[in-house]
Amino acid sequence: MNIAANPVVEADQTVYLKDYQKPTFEVLSIDLDISVFDDHTQVKSKLLMKRQAVGDLVLLGRDLELKSIHLNDQALSQADYQLDAEKLVISNAPDAVTLEITVVIHPETNTMLEGLYKAGDLYVTQNEPEGFRKITYYPDRPDVLSVFTTRVEADKKYPVLLANGNLLETGEAENGRHYAIWQDPTKKPSYLFACVIGDLAVLKDHYVTSEGRNVALEIYAIEKDIPKCHIAMQALKHSMQWDEEHYGRPYDLDNYMIVAVSQFNMGAMENKGLNIFNTSCVLADEEYTTDAAIMRVQSVIAHEYFHNWTGNRITCRDWFQLCLKEGLTVFRDQSFSEDLQSAAVQRIDDVAVLKAHQFPEDAGPLSHPPRPDHFVEINNFYTATVYEKGAEINRMMSTLLGKEKFRKGTDEYFRRHDGQAVTVEDWVAALTAGSGVDLSAFLKWYNQPGTPKLEAQGEYDQATQTYRLTFKQSLKAHAKYPNLQAVPIPVALALFNAKTGEQYTLHSESLFENAVKDGVYLFDQAEASIEFTGVSEKPVVSLLRNFSAPVNLQFNYSDEELAFLLKYETNGFNQWQATQTLLERILLEGHDAKVYLDAIQQTLPFVISKDPLLASRLFDVPTEGYLGSRIDENYQPEIVHEARETLLESLARGLGDFCKETYLALDPVAQKDFSQAMGVRALKNIMLSMMARQGDPEAFDLATAQYNETGNMSERLGALRVLVWNDAPQAKEVLQDFYNRFKDEPLSLDQWFMLQAAHPNAGPETIQYLTNHVDYDLGTPNRIRSVSGGLNANPVNAWGFGIQHFIDLAKYLDEKNPIVGSRLLQVLTRWYTLAEPKRSAVKAQLEGLKSEVKSKNVVETLNSMLNV
Ligand code: TRP
Ligand code: ZN
Repeated sequence: MNIAANPVVEADQTVYLKDYQKPTFEVLSIDLDISVFDDHTQVKSKLLMKRQAVGDLVLLGRDLELKSIHLNDQALSQADYQLDAEKLVISNAPDAVTLEITVVIHPETNTMLEGLYKAGDLYVTQNEPEGFRKITYYPDRPDVLSVFTTRVEADKKYPVLLANGNLLETGEAENGRHYAIWQDPTKKPSYLFACVIGDLAVLKDHYVTSEGRNVALEIYAIEKDIPKCHIAMQALKHSMQWDEEHYGRPYDLDNYMIVAVSQFNMGAMENKGLNIFNTSCVLADEEYTTDAAIMRVQSVIAHEYFHNWTGNRITCRDWFQLCLKEGLTVFRDQSFSEDLQSAAVQRIDDVAVLKAHQFPEDAGPLSHPPRPDHFVEINNFYTATVYEKGAEINRMMSTLLGKEKFRKGTDEYFRRHDGQAVTVEDWVAALTAGSGVDLSAFLKWYNQPGTPKLEAQGEYDQATQTYRLTFKQSLKAHAKYPNLQAVPIPVALALFNAKTGEQYTLHSESLFENAVKDGVYLFDQAEASIEFTGVSEKPVVSLLRNFSAPVNLQFNYSDEELAFLLKYETNGFNQWQATQTLLERILLEGHDAKVYLDAIQQTLPFVISKDPLLASRLFDVPTEGYLGSRIDENYQPEIVHEARETLLESLARGLGDFCKETYLALDPVAQKDFSQAMGVRALKNIMLSMMARQGDPEAFDLATAQYNETGNMSERLGALRVLVWNDAPQAKEVLQDFYNRFKDEPLSLDQWFMLQAAHPNAGPETIQYLTNHVDYDLGTPNRIRSVSGGLNANPVNAWGFGIQHFIDLAKYLDEKNPIVGSRLLQVLTRWYTLAEPKRSAVKAQLEGLKSEVKSKNVVETLNSMLNV
């Protein structure tokens, strides 16, 4: 029996949170025996189950060839159970059950990269959220926890046999094969099961925990990549220590393994004691990968490590609670990264991602609460809202509580729920109990969609020396969530003396009512105001410092006040925010660029000397994609493009010699740490591209020299970008050189594809050339994303000839890899904002696609996208 890969979506496959029911059986233990052959894999399982509620015994399974099933030693026949494409149901099962099941699966032809699949010569698993049911029949849901013992058997051409937990035994098997038996002593849900079979080299180290446990650390990769694993190994040890120091959480097993895989749907996966990583999130080496990629490796290593407590030891009751583990773990990895580099820049980068992806998602047809109450395909809910907005909710609670109380809250969460599968309510209740502060109002953030609008107004009265701030919040109506309520919004703020630039002391009682504590005002009504007394001069207020809440702030700053904040605000994030607001006004509202130019030139020298990375961010000109996402109707990408080009021209002109002087003066080698060196490299690359824009006759020679002389990927790529995007005479040659140098380094080659796809003047022939290239590979999501991501960097192209590329990809991936297909298609979500006639044209294309796709993933996404 072989079940079709993509069962046609039936009338309504929606799953609702309100329908949650406890599992009828618990699984006391599972023994797995996985035997890999070239043309199939056999999976035998033995489940000891015990009834805990009335009802049928339900096992979930998909694309499995069922060979045999025994219940308490009796072979079952087809009459003894009901089987369909999704499940195997046994009615009237006794209270104590031993099930033995044999199935056959086909990892060698599994292109979906879910369940057990073959990536090149490597067999790996990906089971979150619902992949385990593609390995064997099982109650594949996160609230069924069990002890897994795994025997893995394969030909000796695959010397490495890994699974979760401790290695109990290895030995010879028939026909020159061998096996290994692993046992994971901790109870875990099936989505955290993993095994790996292949030929890999390993980097070893160890870490001694605060409890004195000596943990063997191992990173597995192909031999050639082992030298690129050292940064990840350092980051792992650092994460282990960080979680001990900041959350009191030591590691609990004797080993921790990480495996690098080049074909992977997302970033990485936190399987218990056996993380599996996309190579892009574990390999780091300045010769082959960029500074940004190196930072990302460290944060993803930390993220997956932190899941060991927030995700694995305490897991989710059901998939609606996904943001319980993801939102908290993202908040934790962001905090970790703030300790690694300029904290202001880490916050800037995290907020930039939030605003560029989560805000638009939440403003369009795919909008959903961080904890949705229904879904069709859970894979479609690994979204910016669940991850990034989820993290913001935790950050708000932590900001409000302060370090000490937040720690008491998390301690209580770990104390109460270790070993359990829980809900968002359990998390908020534990934080409340531990901290002694009622946080229940924050549940509204989890349950409601949309970005709140926060309107603020300031009024100064010279006679009474008072400053009054009035706040108002509102949410856009949402068809599926009618009862929207005011949410608690922590507003971190500061007042500055407009004459001297000095900050008024926030702790002074004369200045603040009790509503404001430690510079944070908790605004939790539809409308409210606060008053500050003893304000001797008209102040400039800085609101939402460090972006203390994920809201759209509207405050009537003058351009001069924003320039003031760029100069005098001591919070690096709000300095940056001031530049972004100024630039957005120039770009979207036609304001004069002079105020920004003057302020930035006065501020920069000081910032460069203090925090060069922050200095580089102050030149961030909002991307065309971001600007487009701020336009809700009649969006014409060409107009945004023109406006941005005009601004860049006037910036280049306005900065004049500053660009070359800065370029020549800065030396990354002279910096004292990685963060500063990274900042200097970023600044130099910005200056180089400005010089090209200025038409500086030396720009291309300097770029060519930088390209040739460096051993650093950020420098090499920065130079290459300037040459290629400006069609310099040297462009062809350096592109060819880059290819020759890095053709056997997939991550570097991804950059080569991306850079060309992102050429502002790329045309359909560019994309055709890249997608027909011998190194293009539709089986490797990283490579697909390098081209589609590059294309997407230029909305004029993406919304022009690029549309066909995305439609074709979605059609192809619908069958081969619907998880990735559905995600890529989301690039077109904002089609409805386009000006006519494009709007109707894209709509017709999407409707045409609808009749051709079958996967739940793509169908659900298309349906939502078209429902505007
Ligand atoms: N839990 C993973 C994380 O840490 C994300 C994840 C979910 C994932 N499904 C996946 C990763 C599929 C890779 C492939 O964020
Ligand atoms: Zn995660």
